[in-house]
Amino acid sequence: MSGDNLKKDLKKILEEASKSIKDINSISDLEKSRIQFLGKKSLLISLMKSLSDLTKEEKSIAGKDLNNAKTEINNLLADKKISLSKVDNVKKDDFDLSMPGKASSVGSVHPISKTMDCAIQIFESLKFECVEGPEIEDEFHNFTALNIPDSHPARAMHDTFYLENNLLLRTHTSSVQVRTMSENTTPIRIIAPGKVYRKDSDITHTPMFHQIEGLYVDKDVSFSNLKSIINIFLKSFFEQDDLKIRFRPSYFPFTEPSAEVDIEYIDSKGNKSWLEILGCGMVHPNVLDMANIDSSIYSGYAFGLGVERLAMLKLGITDLRLFYENDLRFLKQFQRI
Ligand code: FA5
Ligand code: MG
Repeated sequence: MSGDNLKKDLKKILEEASKSIKDINSISDLEKSRIQFLGKKSLLISLMKSLSDLTKEEKSIAGKDLNNAKTEINNLLADKKISLSKVDNVKKDDFDLSMPGKASSVGSVHPISKTMDCAIQIFESLKFECVEGPEIEDEFHNFTALNIPDSHPARAMHDTFYLENNLLLRTHTSSVQVRTMSENTTPIRIIAPGKVYRKDSDITHTPMFHQIEGLYVDKDVSFSNLKSIINIFLKSFFEQDDLKIRFRPSYFPFTEPSAEVDIEYIDSKGNKSWLEILGCGMVHPNVLDMANIDSSIYSGYAFGLGVERLAMLKLGITDLRLFYENDLRFLKQFQRI
């Protein structure tokens, strides 16, 4: 065996090994290939055995070439083993081709948002302009400017979430009345929808709920104007001309006279019942004066509607807290309202 012939033989073996290992698809075929190229009966090993025919110098050169070739084939086998085991793992753990695909479901607008949008649309058709105010309020706008001075017992009617620096989460949208009156000129005809917060929780109360405030200030605004707008709104919202509506005398420091409005409905036991849905009244002269509106010339009405209560009655829900449990089985029922 000459050195040139050995190099040629090794080149051929390596080419053949590299080509055949590349095409292998399983660990068992890989083992067969190892035996073919490095096993006892392989060409490479028989070449190693024939080294004894060579001189000492030739032996050292040929020995190095043979060892390099062996290392190279070992490397090819090891790399292939790694790539085969990765494919195997992926096949075993990550893909079950028989599994059904995951369907992606389409979201929908929350029933409370839909109720809000519907109510806003009706008020806009009655020429009320929609405005917004901050959810984090100060005591002045939430209480003081609404004729509820410090230590007035009416403050206890609202279970308030207080923040630092005399700030609080607004307990009603009436705070927007104050902001609107002090920033605008008369006549004023607005609604202010938004979130409000109170430490309250039972089947008709949640700690966060939505109100729509309404305010109309002009010359000669009367309680009958207020009654009329509430009647028109409610009959239009519930799409029911014979809706039973009750105005019940009530008390708010910022309106005089004041009323709360209830709607008749059939409860879960089939009995007729009344549910309060809003508070309202004629804006108190002190509130107009505090906002620099001359109460001897102007008068106004205001109301604060509970949006969740409207949704409850319209959709026939008996526990208001269900709206906020994020149970898709509950929410999906209202996808098409
Ligand atoms: C008020 O909040 C007054 N600001 C309403 C008002 C505005 C009166 C303008 C006069 C002039 P009251 O606390 O009653 O009033 O709340 C109004 C409505 O919000 C209630 O009729 C009810 O429908 C709803 N409401 C009150 N508390 C909750 C609650 N915790 N969860 C859900 N809805 C509520
Ligand atoms: Mg009330």
